[in-house]
Amino acid sequence: MRSFLKSGIRRIVTGPEKTQRPARARGTRKATVIAIAAQKGGVGKTTTSVNLASALARYHGKRVLLVDLDPQGHVNTALRDQIRVGGGCLSEILASDLGAEVIDIRTATNVPNLDVTPYDTGLGATENLLGTRIGKEYVLRDALDVTRTFYDTIIIDCPPNLGNLTLNGLVAADAVLIPCDPSPLAVSGVHALVDAIRDVARLNPNIDVLGILMTRVDGRNLTLNSAVQEEIEEAYGDALLPVQIGINNALAKAQHGGCDIFEFDEKSRGAEHYRSLADVIAEQL
Ligand SMILES: Nc1ncnc2c1ncn2[C@@H]1O[C@H](COP(=O)(O)OP(=O)(O)OP(=O)(O)O)[C@@H](O)[C@H]1O
Ligand SMILES: [Mg+2]
Repeated sequence: MRSFLKSGIRRIVTGPEKTQRPARARGTRKATVIAIAAQKGGVGKTTTSVNLASALARYHGKRVLLVDLDPQGHVNTALRDQIRVGGGCLSEILASDLGAEVIDIRTATNVPNLDVTPYDTGLGATENLLGTRIGKEYVLRDALDVTRTFYDTIIIDCPPNLGNLTLNGLVAADAVLIPCDPSPLAVSGVHALVDAIRDVARLNPNIDVLGILMTRVDGRNLTLNSAVQEEIEEAYGDALLPVQIGINNALAKAQHGGCDIFEFDEKSRGAEHYRSLADVIAEQL
């Protein structure tokens, strides 16, 4: 039987613009993509994204792109004094079928080697629009295809839920870093996220857990801290990272002041802890 799909009719079915991404110049790098995700809100995802990205750029010479995937736009709030004007909308890239790339909308910061995606009010609508799109899980991964050849590390700050945006972050990621504060709710959020990562492994077989990072650790609550740590160690063994981020007001003040912790107070305990985290992560990259 003659196959119509073998002839030119196939182009009508598939649409040339959807099957052929425009050829683009590629860079020479191959970024590791790290999604920073947690189901519970307020556990330090953004603080970790911003300060890890900055530390990798400042102290490890990495060329870093920080993707603000959370419609709250907290990366941009946290770095507002350091972000250069310019760039475009990530939501438009995620809505495009035309091989649009995240690098097209990124903007620079005053930290050498650190770029970010700008604040984008459209991302809230993207969460819902993605729900109606076939292949919705792969949109961000595809939009990083060329972009990742211009960076060493791409860090994605995910929203505090397991919706379509976070799903895109996980499918695009080589590794997931999971911040967890010492609270029972945060621990159940880790279990939920690990379950989600196991599901995502069907779409992204290479996904790995980079580690679980204890954040906002208050040295005065020893009993709670060790109970939470033991539960995580029992469930996930050495996925618990050897570095912890202590409670440190300088971190909150830096975020409030619109700059990373190294610009705000490079001698603070928060700066020390995030430098140590970057050392541990850089060894694994
Ligand atoms: N180690 C810390 N010490 C003191 N304050 C911290 C620390 N880490 C984060 N904070 C503060 O806690 C609040 C929540 O942190 P952050 O925004 O990083 O959490 P998040 O997980 O990204 O939140 P969301 O779920 O809303 O995205 C912020 O005000 C931040 O400045
Ligand atoms: Mg956040």
